[in-house]
Amino acid sequence: MNPSQAEQRVSELRDRLNKANDAYYQDAAPLMSDREFDRLLEELRHLEDSYGLQNPDSPTLRVGGKPTKIFPTVQHPVPMLSLSNTYSREELDEFDQRVKNLLGHDNYSYLAELKYDGMAIRLIYEDGQLTLGATRGDGSQGDDITTNIRTIRDIPLTLKGNLPESLEVRGEAYMELTAFAKMNSSREEQGDATFANPRNATAGTLKMQNPGIVARRPIRMFAYDLLIDDNNNRKRTQKEKLDLLDELGFPVCEHRAWCAGIAEVHDMIKSWEEIRKTLPYETDGVVVKVNEERFREILGQTAKAPRWAIAYKFEAEQGVSRIQDITLQVGRLGTITPVAELEPVLLGGTTVKRATLHNEEEIQRRDIRIGDQVTVEKAGEIIPQVVNVILQDDRKRGAPFRMPEYCPSCSATLVKLPGEVAWRCTNNQCPPQVRSRLEHFASRDAMDIDGLGTAVIDQLVSTGLATTFSDLYRLSVNDLVPLERMAEKSAENLIQAIDRSKKKPFEKVLYALGIRFVGVTVARDLAEAFHTLEALMESSEEELCDVDSIGPRIARSVRSFFDHPANREMVKELAAKGLQFTTLTKKRPSDALSGKTFVLTGTLPTMSRNEAKELIEKHGGKVATSVSKKTVFVLAGDEAGGKLDKAQKLGVETIDEKTFLEMIK
Ligand code: IVH
Repeated sequence: MNPSQAEQRVSELRDRLNKANDAYYQDAAPLMSDREFDRLLEELRHLEDSYGLQNPDSPTLRVGGKPTKIFPTVQHPVPMLSLSNTYSREELDEFDQRVKNLLGHDNYSYLAELKYDGMAIRLIYEDGQLTLGATRGDGSQGDDITTNIRTIRDIPLTLKGNLPESLEVRGEAYMELTAFAKMNSSREEQGDATFANPRNATAGTLKMQNPGIVARRPIRMFAYDLLIDDNNNRKRTQKEKLDLLDELGFPVCEHRAWCAGIAEVHDMIKSWEEIRKTLPYETDGVVVKVNEERFREILGQTAKAPRWAIAYKFEAEQGVSRIQDITLQVGRLGTITPVAELEPVLLGGTTVKRATLHNEEEIQRRDIRIGDQVTVEKAGEIIPQVVNVILQDDRKRGAPFRMPEYCPSCSATLVKLPGEVAWRCTNNQCPPQVRSRLEHFASRDAMDIDGLGTAVIDQLVSTGLATTFSDLYRLSVNDLVPLERMAEKSAENLIQAIDRSKKKPFEKVLYALGIRFVGVTVARDLAEAFHTLEALMESSEEELCDVDSIGPRIARSVRSFFDHPANREMVKELAAKGLQFTTLTKKRPSDALSGKTFVLTGTLPTMSRNEAKELIEKHGGKVATSVSKKTVFVLAGDEAGGKLDKAQKLGVETIDEKTFLEMIK
């Protein structure tokens, strides 16, 4: 960087940081995260030092904007600690083990509370009067925001009853989701920047200098701790403190639970993981506290967090966003899924811009429309979904959602099959279907073709180079090189990977074909049961149903796949390309029962049914669960029931164990 570039960057950084400062402190609408702010500030400091560009007005030197300069600073006689976080149930058990070890017994209990996602505050009452409201700050000192705190209606200004001279209440200030959404919405109308989430809105609001504005903001509070410096303190429990806070008129969350041990805490977490989705405010976990104050003293604390409490963080991340558009996605099998295109929201470290709305019925049931504000959740690996509608402002919402009659991608007529909720595009040449079929074919559990990802597939389909599975096996290095971001070497690697996939076993190929309902396990069972493609293609629904993991729904789907002439043609082509369509089976001791289907019923005199089944299969026979015309023998033991009757009705030969053993001698 030359000096003039440095000068320009410095001026750019000052500008951005000043704007961020103003937005944070004056408008209470942070433009960037604290981390981002600190990073830019550090860059500015470094440039000013290296190029001698210091200036008294620079945000690096200006004290203004530091929270501690706006409000008077207060010391916290009892530090406001943070909590150690855990994300797994195992770590929770480890926490419990530590508590047990440190105490040397297990005569303690827990109090579990929700972890509200807002901002910590402490309140001091002297002779029943609220005299101080403060932020946590750095834990040992924070801001005196009493004037702002006094505007929060949840917080009593005077306490009644037999009170100690002085007491302290700690809790979480927060904003309800709907109130937050409304507030953001009116800010937007007035051209003000909106808040990213209720927590930011709360913190931003409570740090404003104008209590008049704070009073109009919907801030609420939950009390979670009571500090009374008296002789009885050691005898108290968290449960009693919360009940007392409740009696004193503080809002205490109803979702709190006394737990005899960690097992009960686990149960509580499980149920709260569901309940939290229905709550009008955001929670991000469960705080587990040793209930007895006297044990807390023994357990003590580390530099930042107590050893008597832990926060279990919920796995799913929720956030508030607004639906900008509702688009339709065409799946591999033509299923049309409505998708909410969202204002970007940060969930668990990633930015989420889209969430599934599942299907038309679901949208209509909740009357979801463009413009609605919603909570979005990202749970584990599952695609984000819209979990709640929090604000539907008639002035800002679009028309009711209607499913179009035609596929948004290829204009084919959409159909809804009887008994299904999803609409489908029936044109199997519809480009998104073609693309996702190829993606599925190349995926790890299927043909595992390294280098054949979405970007390459998109190009193969749009250029027409490959639209079917067998097209892939016709590709050459020369076909691939002209594609975007495809060097000669990667083209060679891809061709080799495609070639290698020809060795993938039958079960993988079967899964790769993408037959509806045929997942990894079903594909494996089918390959094991039928051994060859021919046998599978010719099997009846009934025979298919005889396979372990296969029920009528899957059988029907497999049958209809192979009934389709185009599909039969496609698999033949693949076989011709050298893909594996047979399973090598272990060498059998004999073929005595080859081609014969048995049905077992009743109790056999010397062997279990499983042993009989193994013997039959070892000798080349098959075992089915129900009697049909294809059954050759019913092997019956004592107390044989309905199957025997059916065999007689269909004229199927019934044999006993002795005859069976003769057959395979
Ligand atoms: S107890 C040392 N209880 O979580 C004990 N805190 O990460 C800490 N919080 O600063 C306070 N809900 O802002 C406690 N039910 C609850 C809470 C809770 C939310 C916040 C609080 C604290 C932070 C610690």
